[in-house]
Amino acid sequence: MSAVSPRPLRFVLMVILMVALLSLFHCRPYSSSLPALRCAALENQVQNVDWSRYAYIQYVTGTDYLCNSVMLFESLHRLGSKADRLMVYPEAFSLKGDDTSKESKLLRIARDKYNVKLKPIHVQRRLGIDDTWAESYTKLLAFNQTQYDRVLSLDSDSTVLRVSLITDMAAPSSTPLTQGFTQSMDELFVLPSSPVAMPRAYWLNPHDRTLSSHLVLIQPSKFEFDRVMEAINNASSNDYDMEILNNLYKDSALVLPHRPYGLLTGEFRGDDHAAYLGNKLETWDPYRVLYEAKFLHFSDWPVPKPWLSAPKHLIEDKRPKCQYNPETKEEDNCDALEIWLEIYDDFKRRRKAICDSEGDTA
Ligand SMILES: *[C@@H]1O[C@H](CO)[C@@H](O)[C@H](O)[C@H]1NC(C)=O
Ligand SMILES: *[C@@H]1O[C@H](CO)[C@@H](O)[C@H](O)[C@H]1NC(C)=O
Repeated sequence: MSAVSPRPLRFVLMVILMVALLSLFHCRPYSSSLPALRCAALENQVQNVDWSRYAYIQYVTGTDYLCNSVMLFESLHRLGSKADRLMVYPEAFSLKGDDTSKESKLLRIARDKYNVKLKPIHVQRRLGIDDTWAESYTKLLAFNQTQYDRVLSLDSDSTVLRVSLITDMAAPSSTPLTQGFTQSMDELFVLPSSPVAMPRAYWLNPHDRTLSSHLVLIQPSKFEFDRVMEAINNASSNDYDMEILNNLYKDSALVLPHRPYGLLTGEFRGDDHAAYLGNKLETWDPYRVLYEAKFLHFSDWPVPKPWLSAPKHLIEDKRPKCQYNPETKEEDNCDALEIWLEIYDDFKRRRKAICDSEGDTA
């Protein structure tokens, strides 16, 4: 028999194997021994994700929302999101280079600056139905985009967080950060398969378990598209996309955590945050909530959407109040107010920069 005892031999073999594995999977983009490109290819191979099978999707029916959608794509572009970006727009909007209309300019900006794929469609309207309904109904056509395995529909009257806002606002150092700064919502595309995934409308009666349609992850298919179309044709005029989706998927959808995927701006105005936090024990820390959220929807009735002007007295009346501060024994904790005002200012600034370029007026 050999003089080498089996135990040290096994150890040496293990070390050799581990070094071999590490050198295979460990990417060193700055080292010369493994070129960055090959390293990236390796990472892709390991993750095995073909991002062209997925898309962030926006259905646009009018000019206000076209601008919001372009803003949303600008955020995703800035975050370096990997999935495709698809905008479906009314065929009446022209793309021609000499068309100086607002719509045409915005579409070209989306395509040329933010890498958005554009797809014209014939917008269908049901007779006697208002525009809000058409808007809401068009969103459901995402089930028809079967060239993708999965599409993520995001309501455009929203802010994708961790872009401009967060880096501009210095949080108190006591605020613990749970995750990194820059990230898109790409991780949703690789969730376990399900026809539909949505967060809950946490602000409604929890016993109804209503799903919110501000963010919907859809697996397009002919089967589901036919079901959705039938439900649309059956729907009454008070049934919007949210009712239709709840009727069809309430008991079968994959439920996404509303924290961090479905925060409402109105949360910063409220007093009771147990529904958002998911428990009654946690202390409400507005900065922490802002930092962990990824998707923030503007919903502050009666305060109007951020691109509409609001009477000054309404804002002063409805904006968040400063809270009692146990240290100073005064109502001087104004975190929620600061955040709320900045959320609106940030949206207005971006809208001006992105949609009002070339001296246009909105
Ligand atoms: C669904 O997609 C098909 C194929 O792209 C298209 O011909 C059809 O018009 C679409 N239906 C609607 C209602 O958009
Ligand atoms: C639509 O209405 C028809 C006829 O009333 C009914 O048979 C069908 O189940 C309804 N479909 C949906 C999806 O509600």
